[in-house]
Amino acid sequence: MRYNEFGDNMNLHEAIGQRHSCRHFLMDEISQTVLSELQVKIETACQNKSIRVELRANEKKPLITYGFLNNVRNYLIFFGRKKNIEDKEICGHIGEDLVLFLTMKNLGSCFVGGSYDVFLKSKTAGKDEDLAFVIAFGAEANQKNKGLLQQMTFHKSKPLTDFIDSDMEIPKWLEIGVEALMTAPSAMNRQPIKLKYSNEKLSIYIKNKGIFDWIDLGIAKANVEAALGDGYFELGDSAIYHKYQGVPTQESNLGKQ
Ligand SMILES: Cc1cc2nc3c(=O)[nH]c(=O)nc-3n(C[C@H](O)[C@H](O)[C@H](O)COP(=O)(O)O)c2cc1C
Repeated sequence: MRYNEFGDNMNLHEAIGQRHSCRHFLMDEISQTVLSELQVKIETACQNKSIRVELRANEKKPLITYGFLNNVRNYLIFFGRKKNIEDKEICGHIGEDLVLFLTMKNLGSCFVGGSYDVFLKSKTAGKDEDLAFVIAFGAEANQKNKGLLQQMTFHKSKPLTDFIDSDMEIPKWLEIGVEALMTAPSAMNRQPIKLKYSNEKLSIYIKNKGIFDWIDLGIAKANVEAALGDGYFELGDSAIYHKYQGVPTQESNLGKQ
């Protein structure tokens, strides 16, 4: 059994390849079965952590959004402690784990860093909390302006070597991890995260600083861990990858040091 395998009709590797930002949703209801599973995933992932995730589903009034997003009736709101970079990373990691789960359920999703209701933060965040981001999700509508969006966001044609520093040839087992990094979502498609493979040690770091870099770091770690399936990164920047000792379990990879 693979670690972090959520099961269902699409497997985790397929989900990593299939995931893309979906911004146009159908008004269709999400089934209670999927919502219950999602709620359990959220509770398990947030256990013993200082972050919080609020699930809003099948809302009568879609979330007010800007830019390309529309019909956002389902969304997750992520909160961490004020100005706490560790919580931002953890939110990103759990967010991407949940996005892969939703992808396996054939639901579209999109991280939303800013283009939502300007009052959402004041309506939802506690006084010691920051709203990190929102994940919109739901049944994907046919995108009329997909062509334009793809031009804006297409990034899968860069060479592997843009995403990893190494003093040796990249081993075959690691290629799948680099590909997962290449396809990970990132704010404004900046792709600020890079892997390093040196002296047979794998690590991950922020190559370009930006306002969403800690969130992007958590997302990238989640995608690479899901693809490799045999270990986890420590928390923080320049974090080392550790292989599991013993039998893996099915919780989120996060914070398993
Ligand atoms: C932290 C974060 C914030 C984002 N904010 C927005 C946003 O406000 N609006 C939007 O349309 N897309 C947003 N995105 C989606 C990115 O634009 C998208 O991930 C990137 O262009 C790569 O495309 P892909 O997800 O289809 O691979 C965000 C992504 C991340 C990780």
